[in-house]
Amino acid sequence: MEKNKTKLRSEGWFGGDDKMGFVHRSWLRNQGHPDHMFRGRPVIGICNTWSDLTPCNAHLRDFAEIVKRGVYEAGGFPLEFPVMSLGETIMKPTTMLWRNLVSMDAEESIRANPLDGIVLLTGCDKTTPSTLMGACSVNLPTIIVPGGPMLNGKWRGKDVGSGTLTWQLEEALKEGTATRSDLREAESCMSRSAGHCMTMGTASSMASTVEALGLTLPGASAIPAVDARKKVMAHLAGNRIVAMVKEGLTLSKVLTRQAFENAIMVNAAIGGSTNVMIHLTAIAGRIGVELHIDDFDKIGSHLPLLANLQPAGQYLMEDFYYAGGLPVVINELKGHIHNDAITVNGKTIGENCKDAPCYNQEVIRPIESPLKEEAGIVVLKGNLCENGAVIKPSATDGKLLQHTGRAVVFESIEDYHARIDKPDLDIDENCVMVLKGVGPVGYPGMPEVGNMALPEKLIKKGVKDMVRISDGRMSGTAYGTVVLHISPESTIGGNLALVRDGDLIELDVKERKLTLHVPENELEARRKRWTPPPPVATRGYVHLYINHVEQADRGCDLGFLKGGSGHEVSREPH
Ligand code: FES
Repeated sequence: MEKNKTKLRSEGWFGGDDKMGFVHRSWLRNQGHPDHMFRGRPVIGICNTWSDLTPCNAHLRDFAEIVKRGVYEAGGFPLEFPVMSLGETIMKPTTMLWRNLVSMDAEESIRANPLDGIVLLTGCDKTTPSTLMGACSVNLPTIIVPGGPMLNGKWRGKDVGSGTLTWQLEEALKEGTATRSDLREAESCMSRSAGHCMTMGTASSMASTVEALGLTLPGASAIPAVDARKKVMAHLAGNRIVAMVKEGLTLSKVLTRQAFENAIMVNAAIGGSTNVMIHLTAIAGRIGVELHIDDFDKIGSHLPLLANLQPAGQYLMEDFYYAGGLPVVINELKGHIHNDAITVNGKTIGENCKDAPCYNQEVIRPIESPLKEEAGIVVLKGNLCENGAVIKPSATDGKLLQHTGRAVVFESIEDYHARIDKPDLDIDENCVMVLKGVGPVGYPGMPEVGNMALPEKLIKKGVKDMVRISDGRMSGTAYGTVVLHISPESTIGGNLALVRDGDLIELDVKERKLTLHVPENELEARRKRWTPPPPVATRGYVHLYINHVEQADRGCDLGFLKGGSGHEVSREPH
């Protein structure tokens, strides 16, 4: 090894000639590691979110072995470790409830172990932000290997997108144009390879976000999970993390305010998920960068939509990769982004993406002829959402972005399911559907239920969209005029709790307003009569969560997890 090198953190475990040095090395040797592995090599922790119960990440078990090849080749010592994995389509009540728990798992696993650098193997929605939040609170050199999207879904001769097809089929069932056996047949045709959702849902949005933050190798996020080039990327990431340790390229050197601004702009141009706002705010909170909900509107909302991907557009992630992937989008945005932001390969994002060729302008539009002129997420304010609410105009047909309607209120998601298809429900296409009790504290965990399916009787009449508002989230694969993330949420006494059937609600996206047209003295009278629901848990992690979770506009982190504690360990085991 080179002379005068900086002392590795792992030498605090493996470098001693005393009893504890013996203990730290001896038990690890039961896996057959030769002596030279313990002599001054960067130890690379491979944080794996693999699980059979997380279908989108099921291939990552093999990927860890490929990363290890790259680490060994570069002179490092790779050690893989698991963290709790979050399978979006399997876990109840919602993976968002467990995101912060995984972040704690990742943070403490990294800090407590003899690690010099970290590779995060991620894929399904929450597996990216959760592990990154934890890693930020330790702040070692860290690179992300995004697991990659599935191949395009193929059903009856057509491309079909993860999630987006689910919403379409749910509507078609209500409409009477699809049957339950159609649904059964579509299942395996939609999800036909390893990888995460292949629409621009939350997983693809978060993978693109971490690439835009500079935390992956260039072009890494769009490579399909089963493409051999994904394996090459994983191998090279294993190479690179060893060099990053030697260079001292820690997360805080990459994750600057400029990097976050770049991520907001890229998320707008790809028509990314509203969930990115929550996760990006939480990640910024861990690394100590100020990021406010209004930044998303100010920095991103005026940017054009360039990626023609479902749900905002037509194509899927496989097409996006073949068209050139994220470097093309970043290159198109070169007049807007901070081109000098540093990335994990030691080069700037501008250098990495300079002149990236586009191979299909139908899939990735040039900035001069975008799919939509203004694509980013809009932040609404008003007496219904004093701390903010969001809407993604690119996922709508634009017809209801200025709309006033009569409220039809559902007090809970169970209430919604019980009444939405009742023939006598007093509702028409001009009404505003209001859902309460689905925020971070109330549900708990803020599930993706904000895009409530429309009443069957209106779908049968041909109604395609209505204004829907809630304190919940929406899947990144969904669409419609859906106002989300209302803060403060109803369960903690936000004005959403006071809305009643028949109240007039005005949505004005151009003016960034969401207004409940009820006089303040009447609201005050309702507030006095309102009582909060009983807590949903009195013990365990959920009890901790509901007592400490912050509102959506602040990223839904637990307040006491903000910031970091660095990589120092407080006491020796002795
Ligand atoms: Fe895992 Fe969509 S369910 S990414």
